[in-house]
Amino acid sequence: MNPVRIGLLGLGTVGRGTLTVLRRNQEDISRRAGRGIEVRMAAVRDKARARSYAPDLQLVTDPFLVVDHPDIDIVVEVMGGITPNLELVLRALRAGKHVVTANKALLAEHGNEIFETAQEKGVMVAFEAAVAGGIPIIKTLREGLTANRIEWIAGIINGTSNFILSEMRTGGKSFTEVLKMAQDLGYAESDPTFDIEGIDAAHKLTIMAAIAFGMPMHFEAVYTEGISRLTGTDIQYAEELGYRIKLLGITRRTAEGVELRVHPTLIPASRLIANVEGVMNAVLVKGDALGATLLCGAGAGAEPTASAVVADLVDVTRMHTADPEHRVPHLAFQPKYLCEVPILPMDKVRSAYYLRLSVHDRPGVLADITRILADLDVSIVAMVQKEPSGDSEWVDIIMLTHVTLEQRINAAIKRIEGLQSISGKITRIRMESLNRH
Ligand code: NAP
Ligand code: HSE
Repeated sequence: MNPVRIGLLGLGTVGRGTLTVLRRNQEDISRRAGRGIEVRMAAVRDKARARSYAPDLQLVTDPFLVVDHPDIDIVVEVMGGITPNLELVLRALRAGKHVVTANKALLAEHGNEIFETAQEKGVMVAFEAAVAGGIPIIKTLREGLTANRIEWIAGIINGTSNFILSEMRTGGKSFTEVLKMAQDLGYAESDPTFDIEGIDAAHKLTIMAAIAFGMPMHFEAVYTEGISRLTGTDIQYAEELGYRIKLLGITRRTAEGVELRVHPTLIPASRLIANVEGVMNAVLVKGDALGATLLCGAGAGAEPTASAVVADLVDVTRMHTADPEHRVPHLAFQPKYLCEVPILPMDKVRSAYYLRLSVHDRPGVLADITRILADLDVSIVAMVQKEPSGDSEWVDIIMLTHVTLEQRINAAIKRIEGLQSISGKITRIRMESLNRH
């Protein structure tokens, strides 16, 4: 059988990784796919640079030439960004070509339109590489866990942030130095604020929630808070109390609606996921039948991400000739059964909290604080007062609360910050136990 012909949009970290893995493992890959998979052409901005690592490949600077080329069966979109990517992907689908993409921003923000178009045209959009790099989380959620009612997902789904947090904890390098390393290693997005402000994780969470709960993409509804305001002090205090701080993407089905949130989170240091360091990602999924299961692996980088892109290429190649009705639905649920689910506003989310306050070291201060918490029905699990440094009159107090409503903790913070004996803003970090129940 003739090889299936691939056009790459982009030959950067992921595009080059894909070319390398496809070529290195071509024999095994074609034995698995049932036919060869051949890259025919690639679009880049700088042809001279690309020619130095892909001298034998047809290179163009106009990505539409790849999409429109009659010899291309599958378009692999690894350029990044929304424009002109949305137009490129829709044009490929309308021309009856399958698309493989690693672009979570594109899917989270325009996935509903993309999947609808693919469905109409009877073609596939595969996107394993869009979530958690090389970890096969999409296949797991869509196929492996298909018997389960998914209850919640919690994941370390941004490698760059995890890399930075790991370095901050071990006290090795500064935030800026580690971010630069992540950029040099090809982990960071072209705009790294996507990584450190939680936007990239929110894109990935949007995709996982859609598949887990059979609902359309709702990126606009994700509560997003990144790691840029975290301090070494909180990482150290968390450690002393037996916790690690991770940037988690959390989605949970509740009776009132689905939670969609990305934020730094304290998790017990004894949990496996708390020990996932560096660029590694991990996704913990709770299904009603299986219980909790943890997938862990490289969340970014050339070959780990290429592993997911190539897996998609093999799947698409195998299913190319299958009746579209017999393919796995893009979002796991049959398109006619996708349904809107209310998204829980952040105020209504329930969580435990870590609070750090700087207080005037004099009698009655703690009583004032605990009275406010008691009035709002917020219960304290643990409290630590640090010794003042030198002859300072101000001391740090760290409180851990039981699970409560976010709106109650917000009200408590507002009232406590109004006390004369409190200096500056209170640091609030959410806490999750992530136990099996
Ligand atoms: P990258 O290294 O910046 O590569 C982008 C490639 O696209 C480059 O080859 C660039 O050309 C080309 N390109 C960009 N705009 C173009 C345009 N208008 N016309 C023609 N070519 C264009 O990006 P990447 O890290 O590989 O990421 C690609 C996608 O994969 C993104 O959606 C990203 O979110 C996703 N992803 C990345 C990783 C990772 O670890 N890096 C992991 C998972 C998913 P030049 O080479 O000439 O500049
Ligand atoms: N910038 C992303 C990260 C790449 O750091 O996780 C993988 O999606």
